[in-house]
Amino acid sequence: MKFNFKRLQRYSCENRTDMSLRKIARQKGLTGNNPQQMLFAEEVMAVKSLYPPDSTRQEIEDKFENLIHEELKLGSVVSYVGNKNVPFLRIYRYKEAFAFDFVMDFLRRFEADSDDYVFDPFSGLGTTMFTSMLCGIPSVGIDKLPIAHFSSKTLPLLLLLKENELKKIWTSLTPKIQRSEPAEVALDVPIMKIAFDEETLLTLRTLKSAIEDLPLPYRDIFLLLFFSILEECSFTSKDGQFLRLNRNKKISSPIDAMNRKIAQVEEDVRRMKLLSPDIPRNEKFMPDVYHGDTRDLSDITFKKKPTIIITSPPYANRYDYTRTYALELCFHFVQNFEELKAIRFGILRSHIESKIRKDESPPHPVIKEVVEILGRKKLNNPKIPSMITTYFIDMQKVITEWFKVLTPGGKVAMVVDNVRFEGELIPVDLVLSEMAEEAGFEVKEIIVARYKGNSSQQMKKYGRVPVRESIVVWER
Ligand SMILES: C[S@@+](CC[C@H](N)C(=O)[O-])C[C@H]1O[C@@H](n2cnc3c(N)ncnc32)[C@H](O)[C@@H]1O
Repeated sequence: MKFNFKRLQRYSCENRTDMSLRKIARQKGLTGNNPQQMLFAEEVMAVKSLYPPDSTRQEIEDKFENLIHEELKLGSVVSYVGNKNVPFLRIYRYKEAFAFDFVMDFLRRFEADSDDYVFDPFSGLGTTMFTSMLCGIPSVGIDKLPIAHFSSKTLPLLLLLKENELKKIWTSLTPKIQRSEPAEVALDVPIMKIAFDEETLLTLRTLKSAIEDLPLPYRDIFLLLFFSILEECSFTSKDGQFLRLNRNKKISSPIDAMNRKIAQVEEDVRRMKLLSPDIPRNEKFMPDVYHGDTRDLSDITFKKKPTIIITSPPYANRYDYTRTYALELCFHFVQNFEELKAIRFGILRSHIESKIRKDESPPHPVIKEVVEILGRKKLNNPKIPSMITTYFIDMQKVITEWFKVLTPGGKVAMVVDNVRFEGELIPVDLVLSEMAEEAGFEVKEIIVARYKGNSSQQMKKYGRVPVRESIVVWER
């Protein structure tokens, strides 16, 4: 395993930065060749003692213990950061994506070839389909968030671009921007009233109108680039749970930002030609992408039964995609606040505003235990237990749907994050794996890709506990 000191530092709440890991391990009385593993192992042991006596969480940890193993080298590819230098995937920062190398790795492990049909039922940026296309493997994706659906179907189009094609169109488009009427955008959404200065907002609206007049596929390609500059042109930063407002932020001019994006894409077209001169550029490998809900796949007509799922769901961490991607949604996909809220309440219920029905209750003993314990605690948000309940109800539906559509023998690799609320740890990877077993899957392995620290507030109150981010591997 490659040693990565920085990664460990990130999770450290003790002042470890000036000490070598080996020294810390020695001080703790730990001996052996791999100090990083030892420290993690020690902390993992500590997690066990966090569960109350007779806890169903301890039971499920024991049940799956033999299937859990660490592959910490995967830690750098389960997040978008791994795409920093990957042509095209670096263009639009979809922070919840995993990396190209992650998909490549699992396509290899599953021995995928052109007879397979790879499915990402939470397609996001479109990493799984983009990577599959590069490998000459047909694929299909679904996402409920319109911007994610859009990105998933547009990203592969970048692979069809020729050198200087985009640059030429941009040169002919720029004089038209000022003459264009400002596009209609959802200005009644509160964040849109404060995210931009007046001049920038006007330029963005006229730029959007000019782009709208382009023929396909250029319109969609330019729109994707347009969405990718919104954050840097605004006083906001994507910050997990919401868009953080910072009026002192240095903002980019939309035209300069577009110039930089076009230059990046042009660079990527050249790099891609060198890196992968034989990319399959024909229709056969263009992914099928649907705007849909993976909790109910009955309306989706798959070309054939998917053979592999490589995916990551929203995590049960309160993050609300309709807030993080509010600017993109307001510029193109919704006309007003009501439409934005309809999307918020239509996606998987992983965020705090998720609505629970009176007849809904925790669908698994571990979730029941956690919800009951949290019910006795003073929470910083009283809706957390409902959110946890609805999250697992939705994920149970999702897993059942996947079992229906996957071909017998089909494989699943899914990245999931465990979560901790008010000191109560939820082994999401194990609960979902048990649900998968109940649906008919066989749980093959649970690979720990990395350990994450919990929030600094929680650490102060309940101590540092490494929380697993795992890849669950199931077979139908
Ligand atoms: C962690 S991201 C997936 C990232 C993706 N694997 C990638 O590499 O970009 C989870 C995705 O699930 C989507 N989502 C939320 N609810 C959904 C639903 N009910 N059906 C389908 N997709 C949904 C979100 O919009 C988000 O794009």
